[in-house]
Amino acid sequence: MKFIEWNRTGMSRDVLCVGRWALKLPKLKTWRAFLIGLLANMQERDLSKRDCWPELYPVVFALPGGWLVVMRRATPLTDAQAEALDPLAVLSPEDDRPSIPAEPKASSFGMLDGRLVVVDYGDNPN
Ligand SMILES: Nc1ncnc2c1ncn2[C@@H]1O[C@H](COP(=O)(O)OP(=O)(O)O)[C@@H](O)[C@H]1O
Ligand SMILES: [Mg+2]
Repeated sequence: MKFIEWNRTGMSRDVLCVGRWALKLPKLKTWRAFLIGLLANMQERDLSKRDCWPELYPVVFALPGGWLVVMRRATPLTDAQAEALDPLAVLSPEDDRPSIPAEPKASSFGMLDGRLVVVDYGDNPN
């Protein structure tokens, strides 16, 4: 992993990974993506505060209004890990909690200290 790199694969946010941190910023590509990015950041901040889903990767800092979300930097899944993953199953807890609000795809997940975490749980309406 490079010390500093941009991840621009997101729908509505660009993610600047620096050292141990990931900074999530609304995309400036289109007005629409920018607005959705603000909302996604706001939603991630709100959901992260709930006790219901420890699977959601905590937001450690956020600016009001969705301008910025900061998380610890997670390691992306390896191809083998992504292959072995059943995202739908992971997002459906076996207890009676509601489903974890994230898209069931490998890029919604990351690893931290050997633990599988959900890094993308802001809404991505199209
Ligand atoms: N905390 C994080 N640590 C490392 N990479 C991350 C983190 N959060 C997001 N990413 C990476 O950035 C990509 C884009 O972020 P994402 O949350 O998916 O944005 P969007 O909601 O706009 O799709 C993700 O697919 C993931 O690979
Ligand atoms: Mg995404």
